[in-house]
Amino acid sequence: MWSRTSLIVFICLALIASSDRAEDQSIPIDPVLVEDSEGTWLLVRAHCTSCHSSQILKNLRLSRDAWQDVIKRMQAEEGLWDLGDDESRILEYLATNFGPRTDSVQRRGRRAPLAPD
Ligand code: HEC
Repeated sequence: MWSRTSLIVFICLALIASSDRAEDQSIPIDPVLVEDSEGTWLLVRAHCTSCHSSQILKNLRLSRDAWQDVIKRMQAEEGLWDLGDDESRILEYLATNFGPRTDSVQRRGRRAPLAPD
């Protein structure tokens, strides 16, 4: 049987542990993926981070078509499975959060992109 003191100590430790967990929720679960209200980031995490980290997406700025090509390559050469109905949502998410930067705010201080020949 536990003594009263050890029971009180146990309860205090349990309370401290649970308050720590509440604080942890402010730490992003994924360092790269932006959480969206539709929860698509969870799909991307499920489908795209089982073989490599999301860090691989971090500095890429690709159009929807280019992301489509990445997915095709993952499927043809790396063993990515068929994404089914999730594919269009994932593409939308990638093109939005890891798409080309075109607005002037993000390009402040830089000249406009040169037109391709
Ligand atoms: C079955 C394993 C697997 C899955 C699932 C997977 N990838 Fe990959 N991916 C790889 C491998 C292997 C590489 C090559 C890594 C390397 O060169 O270090 C890679 C590389 C990449 C690269 C780097 C560029 C390139 O073409 O090599 C990107 C971007 C990428 N993956 C995006 C994705 C996205 C987006 C998804 C989800 C739709 C995804 N991956 C899912 C295996 C996978």
